[in-house]
Amino acid sequence: MTRRHLLSAADLTRADAEEILTTAASMHDIQHREVKKLPTLRGRTVINLFFEDSTRTRTSFELAGKWMSADTINISAKGSSASKGESLRDTVLTVDAMSVDAFIIRHSASGACHQVAGWVDASVINAGDGTHEHPTQALLDAYTMQQRIGSLEGRHIAIVGDLTHSRVFRSNLILLRTLGARLTVVAPPTLLPSGIGAWSARDGFTVSSDLDAVLSGDDVPDAVMMLRVQKERMSGGYFPTAREYAVGYGMTAARYRALSAANPDVAILHPGPMNRGLEISPEAADSPHSVILDQVSAGVAVRMAVLYHLLAADTTEVAV
Ligand code: NCD
Repeated sequence: MTRRHLLSAADLTRADAEEILTTAASMHDIQHREVKKLPTLRGRTVINLFFEDSTRTRTSFELAGKWMSADTINISAKGSSASKGESLRDTVLTVDAMSVDAFIIRHSASGACHQVAGWVDASVINAGDGTHEHPTQALLDAYTMQQRIGSLEGRHIAIVGDLTHSRVFRSNLILLRTLGARLTVVAPPTLLPSGIGAWSARDGFTVSSDLDAVLSGDDVPDAVMMLRVQKERMSGGYFPTAREYAVGYGMTAARYRALSAANPDVAILHPGPMNRGLEISPEAADSPHSVILDQVSAGVAVRMAVLYHLLAADTTEVAV
């Protein structure tokens, strides 16, 4: 894979994605070692530039860089000159002028990472841009599912929840199709992105607003990904009450019991952070079918693999 940026899941061919997932598997072994250090990115500088809150993504990118010996620096909007009114362009040009090798960027504006990629010499990795994309999340979700249920070719995966505001949904839709999975997406009509009818017809996925129908019948999903209700991105009322959302679209305890009886091997995912009791019940989140903490663990390995392929794949012999 010879690529400088990772801005969208669409940047990845099937061969690229499979290469990253294979590398991630070897990186994952390192996570279980007592001494977690590889020399791979020695002398490289990686900047985590986060304009939106994050626990998992920022920590895992930081660990990924550190475990490969890169110098990793975190810059957040609070505490940087962005809070004094500096533009995104001036902020990244300032840091780029210090000769850094990669920017990992999270921003509330869809398209922000594409813009930055046009301004800087460094590699740019999209760690979530508005409601647009989050490609490393999709990679770690695919990795986690493969570990639990095997190859994704022909497998049925359901993505459920606040599709309108979800960059995780958009990146997963692209990557999972690239990897050969069959997809059903489920949301209340008010949280289906506009134009999804034409989009699903073009890209060949199924859209539903009937969660119980999708989770039963003769094509029970192999994996079900629950998405967070993104209240911070909602400007109005998208559903009457939290209770009604949970009853219609949450992975309630009753729904979890029915699903795990219908498919005892089902994997339940959630990218986090979870609204327990809203989109997912504790019974489902803490169940043996839940791979939510496996997703977190995979996040470090997958991000190590992405950094490796973007920054070091051609020069490892020199670095080691
Ligand atoms: C997601 C995000 O920030 O897009 N979280 C994450 O990266 N693990 C999903 C979300 O915020 O709901």
